[in-house]
Amino acid sequence: MKRIAIFASGNGTNLENILKHVRRRRIRAEVAFCFSDNPKAGALRRARRLGFSTIMFTPGHFPSKKLYEHELTRHIKREKVDYIILAGYMRVLGKEFIRVSRNRILNIHPAILPSFKGTHAIKDAYDYGVKVTGVTVHFADDSVDGGPVISQEAVPIQSGESLPSLEKRIHQVEYRLYPKAINLLLNGKLKIKGRRVIHK
Ligand code: GRF
Repeated sequence: MKRIAIFASGNGTNLENILKHVRRRRIRAEVAFCFSDNPKAGALRRARRLGFSTIMFTPGHFPSKKLYEHELTRHIKREKVDYIILAGYMRVLGKEFIRVSRNRILNIHPAILPSFKGTHAIKDAYDYGVKVTGVTVHFADDSVDGGPVISQEAVPIQSGESLPSLEKRIHQVEYRLYPKAINLLLNGKLKIKGRRVIHK
């Protein structure tokens, strides 16, 4: 079975959803560990509560970002991780880290990329007044939310809808879309050709 590591900096609802899919064998993978760069992350609590192993350290523990990511790579190699699943990991990955794990890192973004990149995508789309936003799953590279797109789902913004309501609906789509994309990856169904991801 393929081995995955999940990286999360925050609340961790996507992480929890993925872990539950693993437990119910709807995602067929072994979770090597869950990593957070934030000691206060809800993601750590959620992972521990479900009985998965966790690792936590921050860039502040290291003299440089390079050494911080070097330590991450050491864990990835030691635990024989095949794929890294970013689930609200709030840091841009360095070139060296990406080089080592090229085409093996997935990310989810709560907007239709390349629109509304960055940390506040749902609010940015809402404030802009777009009528349609959504969710994107993509391979991660060393740009911000820039790697080849695997799947996208549109979420129309209803007239008069509040931001919390939109956030809730976006997250519901995430909980469906991410496990599907992870399964495609695990089953060898994704092929990257330049910017394009082909579903075999
Ligand atoms: C999600 O909206 C995801 O798309 C983005 O970060 C958020 C993480 O939320 N990358 P949670 O921590 O999984 O609740």
